[in-house]
Amino acid sequence: MASTMSASSAALRFDLIAKCSTTRARASVMTLPHGPVNLPLFMPVATQASLKGITPEQLEDTGCRLCLNNTYHLGLKPGQEVLDAVGGAHKLQGWKHNILTDSGGFQMVSLLKLATVTEEGVRFLSPHDGTPMLLTPEHSISLQNSIGSDIIMQLDDVLVTTSPDLARMREAMERSVRWLDRCIAAHKNPHSQNMFCIIQGGLDLDMRRECCREMVARDTPGIAIGGLSGGEAKDDFCRVVAACTEQLPDLKPRYVMGIGYPEDLVVSVALGADMFDCVWPTRTARFGNAITKHGMLNMKREMFAADFGPIEEGCGCACCRPIEEEGAMGITRAFVHHNAAKETVAAHLLTIHNVYYQLNLMREAREAIIEDKYPAFVKEFFARLYPDRQ
Ligand code: GUN
Ligand code: ZN
Repeated sequence: MASTMSASSAALRFDLIAKCSTTRARASVMTLPHGPVNLPLFMPVATQASLKGITPEQLEDTGCRLCLNNTYHLGLKPGQEVLDAVGGAHKLQGWKHNILTDSGGFQMVSLLKLATVTEEGVRFLSPHDGTPMLLTPEHSISLQNSIGSDIIMQLDDVLVTTSPDLARMREAMERSVRWLDRCIAAHKNPHSQNMFCIIQGGLDLDMRRECCREMVARDTPGIAIGGLSGGEAKDDFCRVVAACTEQLPDLKPRYVMGIGYPEDLVVSVALGADMFDCVWPTRTARFGNAITKHGMLNMKREMFAADFGPIEEGCGCACCRPIEEEGAMGITRAFVHHNAAKETVAAHLLTIHNVYYQLNLMREAREAIIEDKYPAFVKEFFARLYPDRQ
């Protein structure tokens, strides 16, 4: 591509830097109120305003400039009053970079069995004391306004099953469009916070296309694809992402929600997606697992007891990178192994490594797109991961 193409809304600027000549992969810069971020991008999830076990400085050191918080969790604790008093989630957690918040409905429907959805909103029983609560589009946006996140998500009606109940799927898709209108009307800070819409429609491609048309017409600064990450077959997943990206404008960021396996990131980028989030890299770290170019390593396995190499050779994270001092060894696999069973330090180190791995994978993908070598990058990535299948 000859030159950068740009688009701006009040609080977001999108510069498209390069497009792959073979796949739909794109490299871009998205500039938000707390600074620019390079896309494609993986966003780690800091559920309770912290990435379990690591400090904001350690998160910053991985290169992370945009992380996720949850409206649902922050709305319950510390609650809106405290958020207003402290001046939002950036101040609450000592994070000077960008934050994206999910709207809360998905967390309720997926975590709480007793959530029910009506036109008004999502009804559920408080997990603290069982009192009935209602999350409406207006309330979700009010909470996200108090949180002050750089990107806020509309409240959507999301089905967590892959059940082919087309009537319910259509109801959820159409309701998500109506709720987007209510969210836009309720949003108090469009000049400092960017609202993204969320495309629904299950695995039905026509319904997805219809939803894309409705959502795109509402001209939000960015667009998310929801309703995936629910255990659907990989080819269904790819078909839905491709059907959506085909309909979306070039000059807006595209976010596939809840996606985090390295293979899914690499494939989704080829299909034209730019942003991803998932709890998996940090959750699996707490089970003792390291994500590497060659697949997952469970550091609890005996084979690492006397392995004095880094978690992953060549990794640039704070745990793996070589130490300058003479004679110093840095963090070894043996150290992580010996602590993996009971000490939290292993979980912290693996969290840092896994977040760095995901961010770096997207950095490398971006470089490959800019050099117009993305197909070769994808091939190498899969060859390394599955050497036996070559
Ligand atoms: N996280 C993963 N999938 C979804 C979705 O469809 N909607 C929302 N709001 N969050 C998600
Ligand atoms: Zn590492």
